[in-house]
Amino acid sequence: MATYRRQKHAPSADEVRQRRADALVESQRWLDLLATPQLNEYQKRRLIQDTIDNFDDYFNRGYIDYRKSVTESEGFASIEWTGTGCYVEDVQGKRYLDCLGGFGIYSCGIRHPKVISAVKAQLDRMPMSSQELLDPLRGALAHLLGEIMPGDLQKCFFINNGTDAVEGAMKLARLHTGRSGFISCLDGFHGKSYGSLSLMGKAEYRVPFEPLLQDVYFVPFGDAEAVEDELKKAQQVGFDVAAVVAEPVQGEAGAVVPPDDYWPRLREICSRYEVLLIADEVQTGLGRTGALWAVDHWDVAPDIMCVAKAMGGGVMSLSAFVSTPEIWKVLEKNPAIHSTTFGGNPLACAAGIAAINVVLEEDLPAKAAKSGAYLLGELQKMRERYADVWVEARGKGLLIGMEFVDSEFGYAVAAGLFKRGVLVSGTLINAKTLRIEPALDISREQCDEILEKLEDTLRSLTAYCKLTP
Ligand SMILES: Cc1ncc(COP(=O)(O)O)c(C=O)c1O
Repeated sequence: MATYRRQKHAPSADEVRQRRADALVESQRWLDLLATPQLNEYQKRRLIQDTIDNFDDYFNRGYIDYRKSVTESEGFASIEWTGTGCYVEDVQGKRYLDCLGGFGIYSCGIRHPKVISAVKAQLDRMPMSSQELLDPLRGALAHLLGEIMPGDLQKCFFINNGTDAVEGAMKLARLHTGRSGFISCLDGFHGKSYGSLSLMGKAEYRVPFEPLLQDVYFVPFGDAEAVEDELKKAQQVGFDVAAVVAEPVQGEAGAVVPPDDYWPRLREICSRYEVLLIADEVQTGLGRTGALWAVDHWDVAPDIMCVAKAMGGGVMSLSAFVSTPEIWKVLEKNPAIHSTTFGGNPLACAAGIAAINVVLEEDLPAKAAKSGAYLLGELQKMRERYADVWVEARGKGLLIGMEFVDSEFGYAVAAGLFKRGVLVSGTLINAKTLRIEPALDISREQCDEILEKLEDTLRSLTAYCKLTP
């Protein structure tokens, strides 16, 4: 398609007509490409060039540079095309063992057949909601979630991503308590809309958008005493705190696991001070950490829980915030007080129902616990051989972080793995920590392949004392 840059002057009527005619031709070309079962070499090369040009000219050039590990391994032109289970495949047919899992969405693997067929069946029936008739899948998914949630978390609202789940949880906490403040954790990550960003525990992402919500107080993650101190201070000076918000295991901070008494103590403190406890299980939920919910490790039921990522079975975007019937009453007076057009649409709910079925039927939490323990154990042994450059291997289940001395070395390891056909990436808040977050049914052989390729990468990086992969 001819590339028209935005002109300073308003385009003439002829130019507008021409651009629309071009868009029609270009859209048809892509539709034809989508319908082509096997691309030929020319189509592949053109697809690569078009994708790079389109990102550069129309999306965000920064993305091409930002994926530094990919770029450094000279793979910046790798264009994803398909995937199955634990593998992503680029348009040229190179396969990558996927240890990134789309940042945690592929707990059921890529294109799990049960999820795909549920969504396809619903697609042929009713893809989106009429918005006026009651849609049965929304009710069915709400019921299923209610059955598998901890404590008496039973009522839910569906949206499309983790950020919106946190946003809804914050609004619900304010509505129910009539208070405005939140206690959040340093290095915590809860999303990037204004409310959820206000809970963000890292300056880099907050400062350009200040002022955010004013009454958010930060405490170190894993320190229950600091939460109590903050609540005491708030009481003393008359600040109103609606809720304490935390991830059960911090994901984007680099798979940081709190002490075992942290969540039970948070529960006890929140109940005593009559503030709500919000568990952000966007990344940890549905088996990732080796239990169905990460809070199950400590037998804690929060007052509100946020779920997303894996909930759509790796096929649809779907999220929810869930709470108790008592807290939910404030939303029932006027259900339109918090609403969404696409949240909980029938396709997403079909995917959600299938995802829950797969997680339970295949016992993915138990598989994550077993493979996670094996991988982490082996990584910790390997770390001892590279202690100069590798600070720590930690995590729970298949939410594993490998912290290196600095982000440059982390990038070099990610690039080396990418070159060897293993996909990993840094965590958002802590770039020197690489995450391992594969499909939960990853096999022992696949775990061993990761370990071998990692060792090979580290050997070559440390042998030459340079950071080229
Ligand atoms: C714990 C947690 N909360 C919220 C979010 C935001 O989710 P999303 O990117 O789907 O909006 C993330 C994303 O990584 C997350 O890890």
